[in-house]
Amino acid sequence: MSSYEPPVGHILQSSFGHGVLRELSAFESKISPVNLMLPLFVTNSSPDALEPINALPGVSRYGVNNVLPFLSQQVEKGLRSIIIFGVDVKNTKDKVGSSADNDMGPTIEAIKIIKAKYPQLWVAADVCICPFSDTGHCAIFEDGHMDNQKSIDRLAEIASNYALAGADCVAPSDMMDGRIGAIKSKLRELKLGSRVAVMSYSAKFCSGSCPYYGPFREAAGSAPKFGDRRNYQLPPGASNLAMRCNSRDVGEGADILMVKPAGAYLDIIYRTKQEHPNFPVAAYQVSGEYALLFHGAKAGAIDLKRGVLESLTACRRAGAELILSYFTPQVLQWLDDDE
Ligand code: PBG
Ligand code: ZN
Repeated sequence: MSSYEPPVGHILQSSFGHGVLRELSAFESKISPVNLMLPLFVTNSSPDALEPINALPGVSRYGVNNVLPFLSQQVEKGLRSIIIFGVDVKNTKDKVGSSADNDMGPTIEAIKIIKAKYPQLWVAADVCICPFSDTGHCAIFEDGHMDNQKSIDRLAEIASNYALAGADCVAPSDMMDGRIGAIKSKLRELKLGSRVAVMSYSAKFCSGSCPYYGPFREAAGSAPKFGDRRNYQLPPGASNLAMRCNSRDVGEGADILMVKPAGAYLDIIYRTKQEHPNFPVAAYQVSGEYALLFHGAKAGAIDLKRGVLESLTACRRAGAELILSYFTPQVLQWLDDDE
């Protein structure tokens, strides 16, 4: 005789025994192409460049001539949005990051050719100074110190030039105080305020020696030349501070909030969505997360497809509508295969 028999109301396996029920049960965490944003590195090294990135196996930097051929495959598989990262290897880096919005620079050129060919694609441009400044920092330095005012004026200028080139969204990743407001008012001044969205890297953490961002810095050539980013990126343990950053950026007019990195910060994604339910929340599955999953799978420790899909599902479940992921091409393929 069994000592304990569950009441009928506790019989739950009936709730997800069939595939349809499993799908319905997880519907709020479903991954569709619209949830995926592809980071795209565009380099000025040469128009025909196609450079595999060692630290991000499977990801390449593209010269402008190779951007469309790569994107056309992705659009065919359902790609809906991208975020462009310009890379300057031409030794034109200076104090204010002039090459960020050079007319012939990689970001502006890429925005123009991509929007001309794919007007429906939602094209965001990362806005920062670090890939283009001689310090490798996300700010302008004066006398050895970050100059917040000069930095946000310059960031607003870069953002508006990307917007003028046709970007649908500008995404400042620098973490200076007041940059959302500066960008918003500049866009309004240019009569672009209603057309261009501002996606704020609002809750962006600095992971100690920044192992999570390491591969990206190799990809974008944006490592700081001295010091680190601890006085502008958030301490990994600081969830309340992250909520203040979200609120500040909401107050300055951000259209979308972002949490970065993603996997180790699911609680932050969840809290961000709870505190700002009326805003879309984005999660950035960063370069280090990509590398960990990739190498884990390569070593046979995990199954790549299941591991990646589960990591993205977790972001969705925590509350992110949009996920920036280097796995996007792979995931679009998997979604296509599973149809
Ligand atoms: C800096 C920036 C970083 C990333 C994008 N823009 C981080 C950093 O260097 O501090 C990281 C993205 C990634 O790791 O995938 N503006
Ligand atoms: Zn930066």
